[in-house]
Amino acid sequence: MSMHRATAAAGPNIAFVKYWGDADAALHLPANPSVSVTLGGLSTVSTVLFSDDLEMDDVLIDGAPASELAQQRVIDQLDRVRALAKSELRARVVSKSNFPTAAGLASSASAFAALTTAAASALELELSEEALSALARIGSGSACRSIPGGFVEWRPGEDHESSYARSFAPPNHWTLVDCIAIVSEEHKAVGSSEGHARASSSPLFKARAGTATELVDRCRSAILERDLTALGRAMEADALMLHAVAMTSKPPIHYWMPATVRVMQAVVDWRAQGLEAYFTIDAGPNIHCFCELKDASKLSGRLLGLDGIAQVRTAVPGAGARLVADHLV
Ligand code: DP6
Repeated sequence: MSMHRATAAAGPNIAFVKYWGDADAALHLPANPSVSVTLGGLSTVSTVLFSDDLEMDDVLIDGAPASELAQQRVIDQLDRVRALAKSELRARVVSKSNFPTAAGLASSASAFAALTTAAASALELELSEEALSALARIGSGSACRSIPGGFVEWRPGEDHESSYARSFAPPNHWTLVDCIAIVSEEHKAVGSSEGHARASSSPLFKARAGTATELVDRCRSAILERDLTALGRAMEADALMLHAVAMTSKPPIHYWMPATVRVMQAVVDWRAQGLEAYFTIDAGPNIHCFCELKDASKLSGRLLGLDGIAQVRTAVPGAGARLVADHLV
């Protein structure tokens, strides 16, 4: 019997300048560059077991069989890894995240980063970090940014090989704290893949893409200088533009809920009162609020006190995708 297995862990990442819309949808070549931080503490652990005992691929996510759509995305990614390794072995995938999935916490990023790392290792592919990042990107665009750790930049590139993410500062460079206000744990109505597809139908799409490169430069410098004010201004500007694009796409997409807006307003008020915090929002209602370590417990406490906030999770910059001890299958 031929059997190969490996387990990998990866954290989600949250972008300060975000990926929204494609230059090449099939390859997930983004319309604009992005900058993010990989988060520690929150993680997806994925075990991949290839065996000639298995007749078909089988995918278990958080203890339950994956939906048809999720299963197909995983199988497509396994096919890419199998093609590189020249293997036809079927696989069992067991994936588990310690945070709510598909609610704007970028679970597809950590899931595809962990899956790609585990599958490539199980089939003994020796890929550079860049090649692994590019491969994860085809599974889910933002997953390329969960391969490296710390503060990360994804340049769009021109083809598959040149579109990958790399770290420009390690996790311990700056202990920024992300206080994530969980508004809803429900699956979002319109997934980000559909959002990317609709993005260019917004009259604001070109305007946003035109500002992204400059915002990326501002974010990178702000991070290198540990300048929260400059980073915060850039992250809010980009998040608001992304949601303006989503809301003006055809048909429009509204990710915010009343509590999302309540947090946005509260953060602006608290800032005026001297608590320096800034927000960003992915393709869902949850809202990420960034502050320095010294303000984190105050900010979390205040967020929890707002109406409609079910939970507040905190996360700091973390490591990239890595192999871990095999334990699930
Ligand atoms: C709003 O990477 O989830 O989180 O490639 O279709 O899986 P797919 O899209 P995905 O899009 C991320 C959208 C975002 C912004 C970001 O993380 O950059």
